[in-house]
Amino acid sequence: MTDFSPQRLHRLADERHTLAPAEIVALLHAQDHDLKALYAAADALRREKVGDNVFLRGIIEFSNYCLNDCAYCGIRAGNQAVSRYRMPPEEIIARAEHADRWGCTSVVLQSGEDPWFTTPRLCEIITGIKRRSAVAVTISVGIRSPAEIRELRAAGCARCLVRFETSDRELFARIHPDETFERRIQCLRDFRAAGFQTGSGFMIGLPDAPLETLAADILYATRLDLDMIGCGPFIAHADTPLAGTPLLADREIYFKTIAIMRLLNPLVHLPATTAFDALVRGGRDRLLQMGCNVFMPNLTPGQYRAQYQLYPGKPCLDEDGAACAACVMKRVEKLGRLIGRSPGHSFKPANLSHPAPDDDLGL
Ligand code: 5AD
Ligand code: FES
Repeated sequence: MTDFSPQRLHRLADERHTLAPAEIVALLHAQDHDLKALYAAADALRREKVGDNVFLRGIIEFSNYCLNDCAYCGIRAGNQAVSRYRMPPEEIIARAEHADRWGCTSVVLQSGEDPWFTTPRLCEIITGIKRRSAVAVTISVGIRSPAEIRELRAAGCARCLVRFETSDRELFARIHPDETFERRIQCLRDFRAAGFQTGSGFMIGLPDAPLETLAADILYATRLDLDMIGCGPFIAHADTPLAGTPLLADREIYFKTIAIMRLLNPLVHLPATTAFDALVRGGRDRLLQMGCNVFMPNLTPGQYRAQYQLYPGKPCLDEDGAACAACVMKRVEKLGRLIGRSPGHSFKPANLSHPAPDDDLGL
């Protein structure tokens, strides 16, 4: 039986201890007193290591065109029920310019795998943003080649987001008909080699992913030594092959995963991801009290939002950028936390000069 005392959990994290898979599974079963201790330890560690600032990263979902057919995703190529949109580059730049004014010190440019947005086009957008505002830019557009990644870096983009989704290679292959696990991880490594701050993560509760898989995912994300880790519940979308997959019976598992993530990664940026609000009202606010230090207001213009539903029940569909950012600020302040005024760079600057080790990453 694992000892769940906050003291022991703290000690483990302080030593940069990595738990055994069985210990993580035991933590994922935590109830009552142990559960409270887990959340309290994650919250205390967050305060000690990364402080009370909550960094706002505005997300701009600029295109829902996608070449891929990922089995879980609502905007997969095969879903004919979605009407497709692309934001004009000028509109993307204008949105990012507003982000600053709305308290967001960085923006995430996210889209499907859309070949219309060639790397030179993305570079023009990034350069345009950099010319007009001081926001940091994160790119989340799927796979690009090493040469393209270097071009993006030269244009002024220094952060990326490439989730590995699951560390179970067979499960990955089943739900990604267009891509291999190795290619994704290699892309992440290419970003890091080009000097990017790297973000990755996975979905919690995919079908055929028992708690042992979840424990392996937590350990894999930890081993990648990331600057940012984004994880969220898998929520089945009706117009996908995974339609009808139920949520995990124990909803706390989703939250426990994030708390454990903080314990094993004291210096990481941990966003309270949007899908948690689709799971349960106020989900993101709870996460900020169990290890998270980043909140991502949706800055996508209202007219596009309904068409960027990777999963159902996405919050804030009726809002616009300004309203969403104002709401987020209120939520953060209510929790007694501060809004981060800096771009919220990596807490691990050494990562930028030391690419992740090759060993043990499954390559
Ligand atoms: N439920 C939850 N998260 C999803 N994503 C895509 N589809 C879903 C879904 N049905 C997540 C993936 C992807 C990120 C942009 O959104 O992890 O990397
Ligand atoms: Fe978007 Fe509240 S977080 S409106």
